[in-house]
Amino acid sequence: MTATTACSHTAYAEARALIDARRYRAALRLLRDGAGMPDGVERHRLLGLAHLGHRDAPAAIAHLRRVLADRPDDADRLAALARAHQADNAPFPATRWFERATRVAPDRPALTAALAGAWRRDARYGDALALARAALAAGHGSAGLHADLRYEAAMAAAYLGRDDEALAHFDALLADDPEHAAAWFGSHAQALHRHGPDKALRRLRRATRCGGANGKYWGYLAATLRLLGRTAEADAVEATEVGDNPKRRPLPDGARALLPRLAADFRLFGSSGRLLRHALACATTPGLVLEFGVRRGTSLDHLADAAGQEVHGFDSFEGLPEGWVNSPRGVLTTGRQLPAVRANARLHVGWFDDSLPPFLAAHAGPVRFVNVDSDIYASARTVLTALADRVRPGSVIVFDEYIGNRSWKDDEYRAFQEFAAENAVEYEYFAASPYTKQVAVRVLRVGGE
Ligand SMILES: C[S@@+](CC[C@H](N)C(=O)[O-])C[C@H]1O[C@@H](n2cnc3c(N)ncnc32)[C@H](O)[C@@H]1O
Repeated sequence: MTATTACSHTAYAEARALIDARRYRAALRLLRDGAGMPDGVERHRLLGLAHLGHRDAPAAIAHLRRVLADRPDDADRLAALARAHQADNAPFPATRWFERATRVAPDRPALTAALAGAWRRDARYGDALALARAALAAGHGSAGLHADLRYEAAMAAAYLGRDDEALAHFDALLADDPEHAAAWFGSHAQALHRHGPDKALRRLRRATRCGGANGKYWGYLAATLRLLGRTAEADAVEATEVGDNPKRRPLPDGARALLPRLAADFRLFGSSGRLLRHALACATTPGLVLEFGVRRGTSLDHLADAAGQEVHGFDSFEGLPEGWVNSPRGVLTTGRQLPAVRANARLHVGWFDDSLPPFLAAHAGPVRFVNVDSDIYASARTVLTALADRVRPGSVIVFDEYIGNRSWKDDEYRAFQEFAAENAVEYEYFAASPYTKQVAVRVLRVGGE
């Protein structure tokens, strides 16, 4: 071994130890400045991992891609690149890299759990659930992996509206690990429907008490209490646990914004599918049933199943047309793949400004129900402006990201407030879900009629 090689081995070993100890900044310093370190594959691999740990996903991706070129079939390298895309809020490419990694190493339980998680984040809930169920049945892997698989199975089942199965997975996970904060949190939403608000709140409070629990859970608790009318408890949680914390404030603030227009029949939900089905059942004015933002078709499936009529789903299938919160333009793309849909569902592919005018020219009549699930202000604004003269008393509009995000006042909320002011729309909120951030609006009067 030459002196330079020995020196670089020592430096690599030191960098690996720093990364293992999560001292990413120190690892980056060493790797950038490290004397005697050749600009080889190992240096880029370590730089990729250190950037990933340091939450600089684009830099991690750049280094890990170079590393992959050297050995394209290395499962660890494929998985590292996949994780970097996940950290970059890009679930679609993350999925592709995890799929490749599991093809190369099909017998690694850790990769199976990671792929189930990647599919879940890419809204492929059916695939994620099937994979997690099969892996759980096979029983391979450590207790930690079982917990991951249970969690993925629970989350995917919840999105698919299989509340009982979701709750069963959460409960099995909690029996093994009673300090799993995310499982208490996730399960409270399913428990709301199965066991009622008191038991759901008990789970939500339990989530807040777990070690390392996400501080945002306090915001969920305050908002849920507020919307349940438990004002004194909501005030207490806000005063002691929410305060001015910018991560905890948005949801309680959003819940407060709903209060002046809460309908007499207002109901709280924890499941997206249940809220959609309830809102559709409440939409009794005959007319068009429309969804803006289809992606993999999960919500359109609920709507098509429950509507008793034709439903129309609009999407570019290219993701968001502009960046949103921490996500880049194009996030939520399906790579232009269209989902399989029920026989009574029609897909309209393209940007809303292009697809909606010809659709409306060909389809007369008012709107019965609209699901606005396109996240950003501009898309909601386009939809509401185009539908302005189709919205009638009795029309129902569900917004999927109305409250709770850091930017909620500038997103769908703002688009609807502008729409209501411009068109003299009187409305009330008759359903909401702090957990999913959905809100259902019933139009009462339009244009002063
Ligand atoms: C959150 S996803 C929809 C999720 C879906 N409803 C579900 O149940 O999983 C948002 C979708 O809106 C689409 N989208 C957003 N703005 C759009 C626009 N202006 N035109 C077309 N599609 C748009 C994106 O392509 C993306 O698929």
